[in-house]
Amino acid sequence: MTQTKPNSLYLLIIFTLFTSFFGCSCCCTCNKHVHGAETSGMFVFGSSLVDNGNNNYVENSTARADYLPYGIDFPLGPSGRFTNGKNVIDTLGKLLKLPFFIPVFANPETRGVKIVHGVNYASGGSGILDETGSISGRVISLNQQIRNFEEVSLPSLGPVLGCENATILAQALADYLFVMGSGGNDYLMNYFLPTSIHKSSLEDFTTNLIAELSNQIKKLHQLGARKFVLISIYPLGCIPVVKAKFPQIEGCIETLNQAASLFNSHLKSLVDLIKPELPNSNLVYLDSYDVIRDIIQDPVPKGFTETSKACCEVSLITEGGNGILCKRKGKTCAKRDSFVFFDGLHPTEAVNNLIALNGYAFNLKTEAYPFNVEQLAKL
Ligand SMILES: *[C@@H]1O[C@H](CO)[C@@H](O)[C@H](O)[C@H]1NC(C)=O
Ligand SMILES: *[C@@H]1O[C@H](CO)[C@@H](O)[C@H](O)[C@H]1NC(C)=O
Repeated sequence: MTQTKPNSLYLLIIFTLFTSFFGCSCCCTCNKHVHGAETSGMFVFGSSLVDNGNNNYVENSTARADYLPYGIDFPLGPSGRFTNGKNVIDTLGKLLKLPFFIPVFANPETRGVKIVHGVNYASGGSGILDETGSISGRVISLNQQIRNFEEVSLPSLGPVLGCENATILAQALADYLFVMGSGGNDYLMNYFLPTSIHKSSLEDFTTNLIAELSNQIKKLHQLGARKFVLISIYPLGCIPVVKAKFPQIEGCIETLNQAASLFNSHLKSLVDLIKPELPNSNLVYLDSYDVIRDIIQDPVPKGFTETSKACCEVSLITEGGNGILCKRKGKTCAKRDSFVFFDGLHPTEAVNNLIALNGYAFNLKTEAYPFNVEQLAKL
């Protein structure tokens, strides 16, 4: 026992020296080639679908997944990911051959050399609009996530990567993917709440939401982002927490699915509309809606058997919960890979894997538009 600790510390030091030498200092644009990865890394912004633990550090946030059964199938156990295993970002990172999971911004240790392959700023419960998510206690809004990139990560990226000046850093930044996974909560936890301040039509609300997102993308572009992945929102009307509210309705709640479809069609159009305004940029729309809808319509050939119930025991509203999150140390279904949803809102790892794989590798313009993430990375 006494031997193992110094040894692993020794290895860690060697590893840190190795990565800081070969990963960064050699030249600031070479770090993707060192590990055989297809991109330098990912900067991730969004909500719980892509949050990998930022909310663990947010005081009084009730949108947390840092306890079992979350992470029951994740190599590091419960980490704050809102699923049983890996999320879409983890799998995308693996497909892009990134050497480790993208670190959590809110962890104070995510500084210095640890940010060479990007940072994840996403916060469960947050939305595109600042006020979305206020029902989850405190969350980190998308605008704040972008400020965290601008004010904390970006100033240290040049020195960390060993970039000599701003021109060289800009070339290096152009090789990272900027992944945006937000929007669902702006409907579920804002527009559709009885207490919502938004009384406009769904069409107007969606137009404004996309305009806000468009400004956020422009802001990132000003800061040097060149490759964007925009993740669509999934069929909100099919999630267990929503279906449980309308037990008399068979199938999914169409009003919510229509809202998601409307957002997604605007998001897909944005890819073409915004590109001329963002010199030297490329954007990819990544589908999650059709992937989940297709599984729900015909689950068995894809290996699924349960499409409407949560795999974990959710904390019910009558017990002080919200019908979304798993009960602490509650039971889970036995075959987690055969369920679409892990809790009342979030898909299982099996579904996350399909979303990531379809967006990364498939060539039909429905999964990723106008081309897939692998092609984006290699540009
Ligand atoms: C967290 O909640 C406690 C108790 O309600 C409160 O005193 C404290 O100010 C809150 N902290 C933040 C950062 O909101
Ligand atoms: C930045 O550094 C590169 C490589 O050393 C050099 O060629 C270039 O002229 C520099 N640009 C500026 C604006 O200093």
